[in-house]
Amino acid sequence: MKRYSRITGTGSALPERRLTNADMVTLLAQRGIETSDDWIVERTGIRARHYAADGVNASDLAFTACRNALAAAGCRTADIDLIIVATSTPDMVFPSTAAILQHKLTEAALADGDVAGAKGCPAFDLQAVCSGFVYALTVADAMIQSGAAHRALVVGAEVFSRILDFNDRTTCVLFGDGAGAVVLEACEHDGSGPGILSSDLHADGQHVGILCVPGTVSNGSILGDPLLKMDGQAVFKLAVGVLEEAARAALAKAGKTEADIDWLIPHQANIRIMQSTARKLKLPMDKVVVTVDQHGNTSAASIPLALDHAVRAGHIRPGQQVMLEGVGGGFTWGAVFLRM
Ligand SMILES: CC(C)(COP(=O)(O)OP(=O)(O)OC[C@H]1O[C@@H](n2cnc3c(N)ncnc32)[C@H](O)[C@@H]1OP(=O)(O)O)[C@@H](O)C(=O)NCCC(=O)NCCS
Repeated sequence: MKRYSRITGTGSALPERRLTNADMVTLLAQRGIETSDDWIVERTGIRARHYAADGVNASDLAFTACRNALAAAGCRTADIDLIIVATSTPDMVFPSTAAILQHKLTEAALADGDVAGAKGCPAFDLQAVCSGFVYALTVADAMIQSGAAHRALVVGAEVFSRILDFNDRTTCVLFGDGAGAVVLEACEHDGSGPGILSSDLHADGQHVGILCVPGTVSNGSILGDPLLKMDGQAVFKLAVGVLEEAARAALAKAGKTEADIDWLIPHQANIRIMQSTARKLKLPMDKVVVTVDQHGNTSAASIPLALDHAVRAGHIRPGQQVMLEGVGGGFTWGAVFLRM
């Protein structure tokens, strides 16, 4: 018997405001910039994205996603002993969005009449941009396997609309806001039950400049550009290579092959990257969960959002094996292979 961590509930949240590509055409036209539904769909597969209203932060979206995940897992906030939030768009420079989220969850639990919330449990943010969720899942899995935690909330939450340059049509049409969360819980079995079977994480800092928000807060003002910069073609080329490698490495560690993948959930950045990854792994597109068309790229939120949608739609079922794959700024990338 070995200790594993398994997903017992998923949840997600999308802001109400939905912008179609037609809305983006209008928005950019106000700045004298041209784009089109055809261009965006053909190059990216994106048809719509959601933007948070003013005053709605990553912790607010994370809160809703966590409440939904807790309900799906059938557990209370007080049962949680670890909170990790993957985000590149935190509410504040500090404290962490995870600490803010912990307080919001605790207040809501007390308002529900529970005697306790999540007060006191460790809570921290993890920064690996669009790979954040697979990084966070791997860290939570290690803490659960070691006995340091028993039941964790692992969250990806982003308000990327706040860091977009709406004068740059090559980037601003790609991203959206949202959050996804899972309850990850300890269990014991001989390897045939549910849980995280393997993971494979990487970073290569030589590529910092191809996808970044270079600005920072310094001496009371913003030093450098606080908006997203991307060399799209460089990112594209790196992404298609590393996503195949990471999936193969995670499969090898679990003693599995491509044939053991029931579902692939790649980071939802661009349909062409996802199609290329699926081809290399010899998977038909009907085994790939696709939400990029409706959500755009929600960075660390994209994988848990897609997972929650596929679970709630009844596509991903207990016992099935799922490959999650992240890739993004850093450059960072990684994969988690798990059984539901
Ligand atoms: C960003 C991306 C969609 C651009 O597609 P591309 O095929 O590389 O396009 P290019 O940058 O070569 O631009 C081609 C043309 O389209 C134009 N274009 C760029 N954005 C446009 C837009 N929103 N609307 C209309 N035209 C656009 C360019 O100006 C260029 O025109 P030109 O040939 O007259 O100069 C693509 O590179 C990509 O998806 N990269 C990966 C991005 C990603 O996934 N990032 C997140 C990873 S976590």
